[in-house]
Amino acid sequence: MFYRFPTPQAIAEYVVTQWIELIRSKPNAVLGLATGSTMEPVYARFIESSQNQNLNLSDITTFNLDEYLGLGPDHPQSYHYYMQQHLFGALHFDTKKICLPNGLCHDVAQHCAQYSRQIHDLGGIDWQLLGIGTNGHIGFNEPGTPFNSQVHVVDLSEQTRIDNSRFFADKSQMPTQAITMGLSEIMAAKQVLLLATGANKAQVMADLYHSPVTENMPASILKQHPNAKIIVDEAAASLLPAEAFRQ
Ligand code: F6R
Repeated sequence: MFYRFPTPQAIAEYVVTQWIELIRSKPNAVLGLATGSTMEPVYARFIESSQNQNLNLSDITTFNLDEYLGLGPDHPQSYHYYMQQHLFGALHFDTKKICLPNGLCHDVAQHCAQYSRQIHDLGGIDWQLLGIGTNGHIGFNEPGTPFNSQVHVVDLSEQTRIDNSRFFADKSQMPTQAITMGLSEIMAAKQVLLLATGANKAQVMADLYHSPVTENMPASILKQHPNAKIIVDEAAASLLPAEAFRQ
């Protein structure tokens, strides 16, 4: 389930080729999208390719994995803002079919239930992109999150707050909670691609490879997914044994 590519750009090329094939074969596909630095080359490549190929995106629905609680769409560190900057702003998606959790919702429990139902009512996610935290989180499902979790509010772990504070002027501005898709919705996706790039992901890739399927390592649940690929660049692969790549 581990696949190695030389660089983040080579990963972007591979992922975007699959992404475009999916849209061509299913123009009303439901996509699960992630944010974070890992996704930036992928979105940049997708913008370029879909513009070159004049791809019709008007029937695509997207669900983002997560959003910080307390940040509105205009906040530069919100995931709404990120998606606008890195993907949606440059392309003609139907804005009515772009879905992200609302970090400013009034009734969070109701909003989570509604977001989960929305995904379910569309038949679940066809193609889910994931990054991974240095502690093994996927979405913001931190270590210890129950495998049967659905969309929920999460207290961000200390590690995640340290890692992601790089995007904020100082750590005190980093939100302490987020809304995230649960591990159930992620596992129900028909196809999952987890991407990890850079030397700072090498240890978590080795931990994931050696880990049993356990809630302490949320990404380990993907070992039970029938169609999940873990895609790493050379730097993130540096602590993985050669057997990891034998299919
Ligand atoms: C973001 C998300 C997170 C990130 C992960 C890695 O939507 O769901 O799980 O994918 O924290 O972030 P980067 O890519 O910034 O290392």
